Amino acid sequence: YFILFYLNSFAGLHGDPGPRGDDDVCPDNCKSIAGTQGPTGLIGPAGSRGLPGTPGMPGPKGVKGEMGEFGPPGVPGSVGEKGELGPQGECRCIDGADGHKGEKGDKGVKGDVGTMGLVGQIGPRGITGDMGHIGMMGPPGPCMPTIQSAFAAGLMTSFPSPDTPVVFSYVFYNIQQNYNPSTGIYIAPINGTYVFSYHVTVFDKVLKIGLFRNFMPVIKTTEASQLATTSQSVVLHLLRGDWVWIQVKDMVTNGMYASNEASSVFSGFLLHPDSCDLALLRSPMPHKKVPDDGYTWGGTPESSTPQP
Ligand SMILES: *[C@@H]1O[C@H](CO)[C@@H](O)[C@H](O)[C@H]1NC(C)=O
Repeated sequence: YFILFYLNSFAGLHGDPGPRGDDDVCPDNCKSIAGTQGPTGLIGPAGSRGLPGTPGMPGPKGVKGEMGEFGPPGVPGSVGEKGELGPQGECRCIDGADGHKGEKGDKGVKGDVGTMGLVGQIGPRGITGDMGHIGMMGPPGPCMPTIQSAFAAGLMTSFPSPDTPVVFSYVFYNIQQNYNPSTGIYIAPINGTYVFSYHVTVFDKVLKIGLFRNFMPVIKTTEASQLATTSQSVVLHLLRGDWVWIQVKDMVTNGMYASNEASSVFSGFLLHPDSCDLALLRSPMPHKKVPDDGYTWGGTPESSTPQP
């Protein structure tokens, strides 16, 4: 069927040339005239194989083949999830005999630090440490000795009168002039603590002298030796305006002596004031009045009074 179709598509082969014409007979023109169609030629030999045709329609499904051989085992799958807890099994056990004591287990790990305990009791006192270095000098204290008073005076006339203060008229020191070298009386300038003393030469007579404060004897001494010295010193607390002086008892016992080679001296000074307030020095000086009976020798001095 295919081949027939192929052959019909070609024209037949050219026929052989026609017979030679007659000589010298020239036609009107040299054009060839188409001869008559020759008889149909014989069928030609089969042509060469044609080009491949287009693929045909797929055939119907074949019958199922036989079962093939087993393949190699596959790779194991991943582990499945944990199943639910099964029901508790029944216990049909009877208490067995006590087993042997097990071996000692491994040491456990160290626990956490515990809470702090209570404060312990105070320990015994330690030994005394070494002495420290000397500290720096501190600032000046609050009380500066701005209030000062002192005096020292010598006797210039021997055998002074009794019943009146002995006048030590030679002044060794009396800057503050609280001692009066004309009367022999020292007047305290401030409430405070004072020191008084006398060192007196005795000659020719017995000497009985005393140190007086405000017309009252404080201390008394008696000296009968020739060219001896009698002396006393005392610390007194005085108020501003108090009087202090030296006095002899009477004409018989006034052997107080002074010469170029034998001095008799009365002295005193303010040891420290009760207060450092300088304004107190300008306060009015209390006035003292000599009693009507004058400067008496008085009775027993304070120094002889039995102390409680
Ligand atoms: C001295 O002391 C007396 C007695 O304590 C007091 O009355 C007087 O005011 C004082 N005087 C001065 C100046 O401090």
